[in-house]
Amino acid sequence: MKLPTIGLEPDEVRRRLEEVHALDLDWRTGRTYAYVYDAGSDVEALGRDAYARFLFQNALDPTAFPSAMHLENDLVAIAAEHLGGGDETVGTFTSGGTESIMLAVKAARDHARAHRPGVTAPEMILPVTAHAAFHKAAEYLGVKVVLTPVDARTFKADVAAVAAAITEQTILIVGSAPSYPHGVIDPIADLGALAAAKGLLLHVDACVGGWLLPYYRRLGASVPDFDLSVPGVTSLSVDLHKYAFAPKGASIVLFRDAGLRRAAYFTCTDWAGYAVVNPAVQSSKSAGPVAAAWAVLHGVGDQGFEDLARRTLEGTRAFVEGVKAIPGLEVLGQPDFCLVAVASREVSVFHVADELNERGWYVQPQLSHPSTPASIHLCLGPKNSGHVERLLVALREAVEAARALPSGHIAQAVAAFAQAPGGLAAALPQVLEAAGLGSGELPKRLAPVNELLDALPAALRKELLTDFVGGLFTPRAAVTA
Ligand SMILES: Cc1ncc(COP(=O)(O)O)c(C=O)c1O
Repeated sequence: MKLPTIGLEPDEVRRRLEEVHALDLDWRTGRTYAYVYDAGSDVEALGRDAYARFLFQNALDPTAFPSAMHLENDLVAIAAEHLGGGDETVGTFTSGGTESIMLAVKAARDHARAHRPGVTAPEMILPVTAHAAFHKAAEYLGVKVVLTPVDARTFKADVAAVAAAITEQTILIVGSAPSYPHGVIDPIADLGALAAAKGLLLHVDACVGGWLLPYYRRLGASVPDFDLSVPGVTSLSVDLHKYAFAPKGASIVLFRDAGLRRAAYFTCTDWAGYAVVNPAVQSSKSAGPVAAAWAVLHGVGDQGFEDLARRTLEGTRAFVEGVKAIPGLEVLGQPDFCLVAVASREVSVFHVADELNERGWYVQPQLSHPSTPASIHLCLGPKNSGHVERLLVALREAVEAARALPSGHIAQAVAAFAQAPGGLAAALPQVLEAAGLGSGELPKRLAPVNELLDALPAALRKELLTDFVGGLFTPRAAVTA
């Protein structure tokens, strides 16, 4: 593919981009329960204007662009106050939960390097519900993951199992507030007591819930202690681009003190160019996200967030009650926040997700794992909460429609192929054929794909997904013309 020899007219550039934009989920309808955290058009406008104004400022260098540093300092101070920080609390603005988590893990690793010479092969203890970002950080940073189970009914971290997993090499314990898969808060106070007793660091992943949970508590919801005020908690991540409703590219990682945060920094003076001091992973970066997050937080304000939290809380309660009244469905655990996982012993939840999609609703399928059945996952929010009654009607219909659809045959095919000489890996083309994926194209209905992935052993699932996404990101004919 080549560039146009003569640049396109701006209108034509816009037209083509609109064409591509139309391929995406239409999340402004309030019928999307994943990926975008929508507080309505006024909040969107706040973020959009500030983002555009600061788009080209480079937050790399605070001496050249002090604006980004000042905005960041404000946000960190506000987040620290909001989340139980003290006089010593410091933080860093990052591009998202993954980057915040990466920094928390790097801080733990390099803190151990500096203070615990006996640690030669660092380990981090993760309840199985901890976000995949910790696995990614572990892979990138050379830290071994030690997984611990969660309670089979509540899906909360099992503190005794965490205690039993501690070794001389442990550098970090992780708890979630809440975890993404089931929206439940781990027993952070108990994990904190354990970490403090053992002299270990404890990171609380409050990426998804940290911003609104204090408002939930103010509204009378029961919210277990989870923030930096809990003894033993040494760092905490909170994403502003989730339930603080800032545009993407906004998260904060807080550290108990500057000494710990220092271990997350990267400084390089060993090359021929400018001195590099990066508090976060990114180096050159737009000041757009920090300005947009500042604008949203200040434009919405404390009362505004309380109102957004109230709408979210009420919508979630109505949804959970409504699901309980639909035969064949069950809510997994007791969500402490507005993330809800719905499973079924009677129908394929993957068909339910497709059927909802057919009716214009978007929910996220979650594959099964030894710790949890497969489910559909919903992130409710202030805007889509208002659509809950209609969603429940659609969900009831979707379950009935799913009952009539075939399921289980792909899992049977996978089991049969697993017995064949060479095992499943050798039979992969036939397995893909059985799931309707023989052509390499992604079908509109994803239940067969999800059923296939669900039936595969974890290692093969990983291989298949990696190759599949590699295939998606392959140059082909121009997307617009
Ligand atoms: C609990 C939790 N932690 C971390 C992340 C990763 O955040 P991001 O996608 O912003 O990198 C998420 C994302 O949903 C999350 O829910």
